Amino acid sequence: MKLTIIGTGYVGLVTGACFAEVGHHVICIDNDAAKIDLLHKGVIPIYEPGLPELVKRNTDAGRLSFTTSTAEGVEKSEIIFIAVPTPPLADGSVDLSFIEKVAREIASAMTSYKIVVDKSTVPVQTGDKVAETIKRYCKARVDFDVVSNPEFLREGFAVEDLMKPDRIVIGVRSQRPVPAMKEVYAPFKAPIIVTDISSAELIKHASNSFLALKISYINAISVLCEATGANVQEVANGMGMDDRIGRRFLNASLGFGGSCFPKDLSAFIKIAEQVGYNFRLLKEVQRINAEQMNHFIKKLSDTLWVLKDKTIGILGLAFKQNTDDVRMSPAIELCQRLQKEGAKLRVHDPRAMDKARALLHDVVFVTDMNEVAEGCDALVIATEWEEFKKLDLERARKSLTHPIMFDGRNLFDPAEMERLGFIYKSIGR
Ligand SMILES: NC(=O)c1ccc[n+]([C@@H]2O[C@H](COP(=O)([O-])OP(=O)(O)OC[C@H]3O[C@@H](n4cnc5c(N)ncnc54)[C@H](O)[C@@H]3O)[C@@H](O)[C@H]2O)c1
Repeated sequence: MKLTIIGTGYVGLVTGACFAEVGHHVICIDNDAAKIDLLHKGVIPIYEPGLPELVKRNTDAGRLSFTTSTAEGVEKSEIIFIAVPTPPLADGSVDLSFIEKVAREIASAMTSYKIVVDKSTVPVQTGDKVAETIKRYCKARVDFDVVSNPEFLREGFAVEDLMKPDRIVIGVRSQRPVPAMKEVYAPFKAPIIVTDISSAELIKHASNSFLALKISYINAISVLCEATGANVQEVANGMGMDDRIGRRFLNASLGFGGSCFPKDLSAFIKIAEQVGYNFRLLKEVQRINAEQMNHFIKKLSDTLWVLKDKTIGILGLAFKQNTDDVRMSPAIELCQRLQKEGAKLRVHDPRAMDKARALLHDVVFVTDMNEVAEGCDALVIATEWEEFKKLDLERARKSLTHPIMFDGRNLFDPAEMERLGFIYKSIGR
């Protein structure tokens, strides 16, 4: 099939590459000319495991191409996916100006029937607004359908998630676009659920909010564990073996972040407020998340006493492992708050240093994770990168002025760390 994707970021680029991989012909559009330029040169602007190979294979095969021209994409495809940003506004609601602009651009380029599919995460009833906008701005007066097709990929595992999705959600106002949408997704052999547009839009916000809730739940339990001498990992393992609960998203940490959970949670609370429901449960999820960071910083200051002029090594800047994405990263927030207290920082991330440079100033970026601890008063694990488990602990112990480690991701075994001579403080253990 001929498909167009508007917005070539974490979602758009991976979706485009995966659609091409199963045999569709895909045009990826972005209004960031520098990004399209890089892609034309074979450079992938984001870090996502498996993506470079996928992009190369499919561009070489002529199934995947890149352009800045929305008109070209609209003209050449019957199905147009929207994957542009939906960032938060100051009051927590969603900035829908990117979606609205794309809807107008699509409308003015349409000369025949199109299916316009929203893949961006949007508040319920956005589909209706998109349809109204297209109707208003389409001079050719041609038929079209608006579809909601939320995306559930996880950064860092995006290729895997897109190639083997748990489910595909298709929200429609009429049955006309359903066969084509099913054909797009047939090669992925995943269950497809067809709903009305509002339900599809709600499925996305309800899912992300539920996952955030699960994280805050285990983080709240971690506070109880610390107060009672229990071990949150054992509690999570015991809970997780219950099929009804499941072990995933039960890892205590210094809190969730990233470009999705915080903004989707705020958006969902705001949407609820607009329809007259006070979503107190989700407000508490946010509060627990903020507390978790405060609690972690208090651990540092309780142990190190004065943070001013202390040098602290930070391992991890990305909001989670396997990505270079630092948007709303708890690790970045931690760095900024420690700097506010007057601490000096030596930081490292396997993939996110370039993007972090735009957010962190007056810190020392260290390329080798084993050199971070040099001359530091303490070492902090802020992101759960697998490779941090291979840190040269003996060297770290000797490099630190005193062997103190704060592990915000529970990567190491407390008994083993003690045996190695560390003062080791983790979460809920
Ligand atoms: N990143 C994730 O893990 C994830 C997962 C599921 C859903 N989502 C949702 O998907 C949407 C996109 O997220 P993302 O992380 O891919 O964002 P992103 O910022 O990485 O990519 C968006 C791209 O859209 C481009 N763009 C903006 N306006 C445009 C226009 N008018 N024409 C063409 N291109 C335009 C930007 O230049 C950018 O490259 C958001 O709504 C997000 O909430 C993201």
